[in-house]
This record gives sequence, C-alpha cells and structure tokens, in this order.
Amino acid sequence: MRAIAEAPGKAIITGEHFVVHGAWALAAALPRKVRVTIEPSSKFEVISDLFRRGESPELLPVSNVVEEMAREFSGKPTVRVMINSDVPGGAGLGSSAATMVAVAAAFSKLNSLGLTVNELVECAMVGEQSIHGKPSGVDPAVCARGGVVLFRTGSTPKKVSFEGMRSLILSYSGLKRSTRGQIGHVARMKDRYPGMFESLAGGIGDLSLRASEMLRDEDMKGLGTLLTVNQAALMSLGVSNDTLDGMVDLLLTLGSYGAKVTGAGGGGSVLAVAPEGKEKSIVSGLSARGFETFRVEIPVEGVRSWLER
Ligand code: PMV
Repeated sequence: MRAIAEAPGKAIITGEHFVVHGAWALAAALPRKVRVTIEPSSKFEVISDLFRRGESPELLPVSNVVEEMAREFSGKPTVRVMINSDVPGGAGLGSSAATMVAVAAAFSKLNSLGLTVNELVECAMVGEQSIHGKPSGVDPAVCARGGVVLFRTGSTPKKVSFEGMRSLILSYSGLKRSTRGQIGHVARMKDRYPGMFESLAGGIGDLSLRASEMLRDEDMKGLGTLLTVNQAALMSLGVSNDTLDGMVDLLLTLGSYGAKVTGAGGGGSVLAVAPEGKEKSIVSGLSARGFETFRVEIPVEGVRSWLER
C-alpha cells in the first residue's frame, strides 16, 4: 500500500516580506504541482527528480516532517518518499511549501491519521522553518488550501471566492536565491529604518485587502495598479534587482496592467496582470528574452491525497 498526495505551487499576489512582519498578504495556488508518493520501507529514504539523492539540504526537512508526524501522531518514520515536481525550485513559486504539504498529506493518508488542513499546514511548517528560518506560513497555507487566500500570521486565513477564472502571467528570471537570505535582509532594513518600515507594512497590508476585492470583482486594471505600487515598496526594501526591474519594465511596456516581483525576490519570478488581448504577446515578448514565461488560470484546488495498492 502506498499513499500519494499532490499539492499546488503558489504565487504571492501582494504582501510578501511585509507578511513576515504582521501585514496581510494575498496569495494564489497555481496549476503546477508537486506529487509525493510515500510507501513503507526498511529505512528512511527520499528519491526526487529535483534533488540528487542524499546530497541536497532540501532533503533534510522532508525527514523532519516525517519524524515529527510519527512522534506527534503515529506511523513509522521508515518510509520511502518519492517526489516529482513541475514547480521550479528557487523560483518563488512555492516548490518547498508544496513539497512539505504533500509529504504531510501523504504521510497522514498512509497512516490513516485523518489530519485537518490546519494540522497539515502545521506539519509542513516544521520543514519550512528548517529551510527558511522564520517564514510567515503563507506558502504552506495556500498550497494546502488552494484557491486564493488572504493571509496574516495569527489570523484564520480567509478564502477569496469569486465566479469564473482569473489569469496571471508569471515569468521566471532563472536566478535562484535563498528565501532565508532575503528575509534576513528585510529584517535588517526594518531594524535600520523602523518608522519607514512600519508605514510601508501598514500600507501594503491595506493594499492586500483592497487587491482581494479587486480580484473578486474582476477589476484587473485596478489590481494591476496595486501590483505596481507594491513593486515600488519591494524595490525600496532592496529585494528587487536590475534583472527583475527590467522584467517588470518590459511587462509594463508590453501592455500589462501592472507587474511586480513575487515571493522573496533577489531572483525568482515576477507576476503581472494584463488585458486579455495582450497576454499572448506579453508571454512571447518575455520568452523571447529567455525568461520562462507562462499564463495561469486561478483558482485551482489545494492538496489532495489517496491510497494506491
Ligand atoms: O517562498 P518564497 O521565496 O516565494 O517567499 C516567501 C514569501 C516571503 O514573504 C518572502 C517569506 C514568508 O515567509 O512569508
């Protein structure tokens, strides 16, 4: 008997970094997934299409999640974990969170633990903390729940519901970076400029609430304007860079309503919203410059798991 779980990647629409310091963020699950298969074994092992066996530090958190779940609930930690992902790693698209959520869901399914979404998120956070230090928890919250979520540390996440689908454009810079390093940089900016940081965090928290209403009401033009305002705040923190600024400029020049860095920045991906008729040429324009660019439709479902003989 083996258990399989699939969890979606994610994109932060607004509020990254400030969410670590108590602001609201708006995030969406993406139609790119991590699939985890767990089966009993004589020892703990991880086989992944992303990381070479036994050689990546990313493997460590998987064992942390499994060991914690075996200790806290029940089940043997000696399992074979197989990971297949179509979420690029280090791209700000939730590869680690989706992996941790899928590991938690598959382990829960294998051992008939029947854990709730909140419990799965808590288990996934054990792995996320080993990788990122002190993350806000927005990534596993949205990968587990799916859809579009308004998230603030300490509050119950709010699902943002709407009729139909909305489309986003994502473009990967190809530059990998460490979320932990980026979070550390922002913490130092906060220490250095506490007053400025507090105002920015308050403003971006309000902006996320407004952005959720615009997404719900399909005011994509208004949402785009807010994305570009959010980008200015991220630039002022120093988490954008020349490549990302150039990608945002290009997205705007090609006719997007608005664009910004998504996730920790310093590399990773940018996100844009655009008029329907322009999406194709925008995707081609960024792809022609060598940036892996794609259009996604949201909402998509959250983690799901099943047993297989
Ligand atoms: O996982 P990333 O690289 O998309 O970044 C997560 C978003 C941050 O706000 C930078 C960190 C966090 O824990 O919320």
